Amino acid sequence: MSEVARGPRPGRNDLCWCGSGQKYKKCHLGSDEAGQTRPAPRPRRPALEPGRVTPARAVPLQIPRPDYALTGFPRGQGRDVKTPEEQARLRRACQAAARVLRIGGEAVRVGITTDDLDGICHDEIIRLGGYPSPLNYRGFPKSICTSVNEVICHGIPDSRPLADGDIVNLDITIWLDGMHGDCSATYLVGEVDEAGKRLVRVARECLERGISAVKPGRAIMEIGRAIEPHAAASGFGVVRSYCGHGIGDTFHTALQVPHHVDPRARRLMEPGMTFTIEPMITEGRWDDAIWDDGWTAVTTDGLRSAQFEHTVLVTQDGADILTLE
Ligand code: MF3
Ligand code: CO
Ligand code: CO
Repeated sequence: MSEVARGPRPGRNDLCWCGSGQKYKKCHLGSDEAGQTRPAPRPRRPALEPGRVTPARAVPLQIPRPDYALTGFPRGQGRDVKTPEEQARLRRACQAAARVLRIGGEAVRVGITTDDLDGICHDEIIRLGGYPSPLNYRGFPKSICTSVNEVICHGIPDSRPLADGDIVNLDITIWLDGMHGDCSATYLVGEVDEAGKRLVRVARECLERGISAVKPGRAIMEIGRAIEPHAAASGFGVVRSYCGHGIGDTFHTALQVPHHVDPRARRLMEPGMTFTIEPMITEGRWDDAIWDDGWTAVTTDGLRSAQFEHTVLVTQDGADILTLE
């Protein structure tokens, strides 16, 4: 996810962004200002606590590394439209990411720690000859991101065992053939309540709707226009601080893909563009806070957040989902 500042809203008397046909002041103005789409229910589970983080996992010397692997700082901005040769390499990286995500997801069960999941995914990434993109990216300490319950994104794998009723997002990025492939999914741990299952289902639908909105010649903001009303119709929020992003030889290019309605996202989609769509959908408020570790983004009301992510290629008439096996 790349971070953005909050966007301008419609004027009080303009039509609401949600497509209701009502004036903004009658519709979502109040909830936008409150950072939520409805009065939030109280969280029923105790707040998540950070566990112990084990040392960074080793990457064998023969595995090629991205520029930031040693310093933590990525160089270069990256271009958003890829040549056919670049597209072919990106597709391979994305297929590998999808495979690692499936293997990580199959390992999710009550009692496994997120650190164990990090180890399983790390080992598969190495076996495929890739580098785990998060490792030392801007100083991130582990090989994947694991985001449990109220964690929106960028959760650091740690010693906490997954508990019955949790939801957990695994976000996998692999650098292979000089390209980053990025995808994520949210998994149910044991028996999850109906509200949690609905949240996860709507988050998946939001990704699908966002992908369906991809067409060359359309503005990037149409993706958020397809996502936010669907979340709002279920009373859910759409996180604004983190966006989808252009991707390729650079993990996060300057291109941002907001998942809410953001009129600033005027750039037009073009064939050959590659970016991620990765909506984070919240049960209550959509605003976020960061833990003292500098990474873990959580909801401010402690309610849950769910996310799904694909890397897509803009084609002549729509989107090609690259992060499929
Ligand atoms: N995979 C995340 C994304 O979807 C980014 C993780 S960056 C890290 O953009 F440093 F936290 F790993
Ligand atoms: Co991403
Ligand atoms: Co990701």
